[in-house]
Amino acid sequence: MTTANTNTNTETATIAVGGKSLQYPIITGSENEKGIDISKLRADTGCVTLDPGYVNTGACTSAVTFIDGDLGILRYRGIPIDQLAEHSTFTEVSYLLIYGKLPTRAQLDDFNYQLCHHSMIHEDMKRFYDGYPSTAHPMGILSAMVCSMSSYYPEALDPSNRTHLNDTIVRLLAKLPTIAALSHKKSRGQPFVYPDNSLSYSANLLQMFFAVPADKYKLDEDVARVLDLLLILHADHEQNCSTSTVRLVGSSQANLFACIAAGICALWGPLHGGANQEVMTMLELINQDGGNVDKYVAMAKDKKSSFRLMGFGHRVYKNFDPRAKIIKKACDTVLNKLGIRDPLLDIAKKLEERALSDSYFVDHKLYPNVDFYSGIIYKAIGIPNNMFTVMFALGRLPGWIAHWKEMTESGAPKIGRPRQIYTGATLQDYVPIANRT
Ligand code: SDX
Repeated sequence: MTTANTNTNTETATIAVGGKSLQYPIITGSENEKGIDISKLRADTGCVTLDPGYVNTGACTSAVTFIDGDLGILRYRGIPIDQLAEHSTFTEVSYLLIYGKLPTRAQLDDFNYQLCHHSMIHEDMKRFYDGYPSTAHPMGILSAMVCSMSSYYPEALDPSNRTHLNDTIVRLLAKLPTIAALSHKKSRGQPFVYPDNSLSYSANLLQMFFAVPADKYKLDEDVARVLDLLLILHADHEQNCSTSTVRLVGSSQANLFACIAAGICALWGPLHGGANQEVMTMLELINQDGGNVDKYVAMAKDKKSSFRLMGFGHRVYKNFDPRAKIIKKACDTVLNKLGIRDPLLDIAKKLEERALSDSYFVDHKLYPNVDFYSGIIYKAIGIPNNMFTVMFALGRLPGWIAHWKEMTESGAPKIGRPRQIYTGATLQDYVPIANRT
């Protein structure tokens, strides 16, 4: 395994502006990605760059995750996602992302023990749920409860105090499933279910969601396994919107609970993690409309229509999202195992086939992304649509933590503060209200 020495490259880029021609170093990553280091550009030229959506802008160097969008490659700490999906578990992948290497058996056993024995939330936090209506969106509850964790663990408020960092990391990973399950029980008017330390991480999540006092909960190990697989596939994805949010909030030296709460809010958006819920709404709409996928493909291509094929397209993948391939295969396995015939899966497959044979989607390189099939599985195991993005957040949590940890350990990170190009009114005086028209 090689790691980049990003300073060895002597290649430079020439930027000519204002009659000056200036050289800027090009850094090369361990997978030969190249970036022009413009950290001195404004001082040299008085110019800033302008790049809405940061399509061409790298915010940092990172050793956590590598994506090659053209080749459809995704690796966590260098290990291909398909190998982790086949051989690993979510808690092992979380350890890999956060601590940078696969744990030994003793390390993993200790990590799992810690996660089990911190899975209960403070009893006072349960009263917060009394204030929410049963219709509250669980992403709003999740972000509020995570931010509120800072009230119970004040030692975590100072991110420079690393003494308790591992406790905070364990508490977040251990308690978010409990917080998520409580919001599900609240929405169903069912009694809260405590964690069961005898169960694995994903099995515990299922029993907290679906166990009821009136029945002995029957765990389906295959369902626990596929849930664990979905968490692995969502665990990290380099500098996506929500991870960049966590890094930006962390750059102000806010505590980790606040940074994760911010990441949850960024993920909520329908163009990001909220897409998995929107995909199911879209598939249900097409199903109610007689399954006419051609009509919706045409709408997605029509510039006058605001309709988009949710679950299609990606800023980085211009080839198949490797996660979508794995999830699509898991859909068939889970639905067959559970004896479920879901017309939405048939519609999804038909939509994919129709879109990928259409020049608009081929030319725009729009392929199914991680969100296109995941909702089919969540629905099959009984998770309601409005909890789908919460499931995404539970998966992405170790990735957020890994990037926050990498950033806060990379020397004194500068506070993130982008510049702008002002296009508003030039100098003008205040006008007394009596003189305004
Ligand atoms: C996630 O960044 C990550 O890594 C995210 C993620 C992760 O793991 O963190 O992978 C998770 O967020 C996946 C994406 C989930 N979102 C959706 O499925 C929503 C639908 N997809 C899009 O809105 C869009 O594709 C984005 C937001 C995902 C990417 O948007 P970009 O890169 O800003 O591209 P764009 O919106 O500028 O679109 C480029 C062109 C446009 O056409 P033109 O104006 O160039 O002619 O492609 C078209 C768009 O109209 N287009 C689509 C489309 N997505 C893009 N047209 C129809 N249907 C779509 N889904």
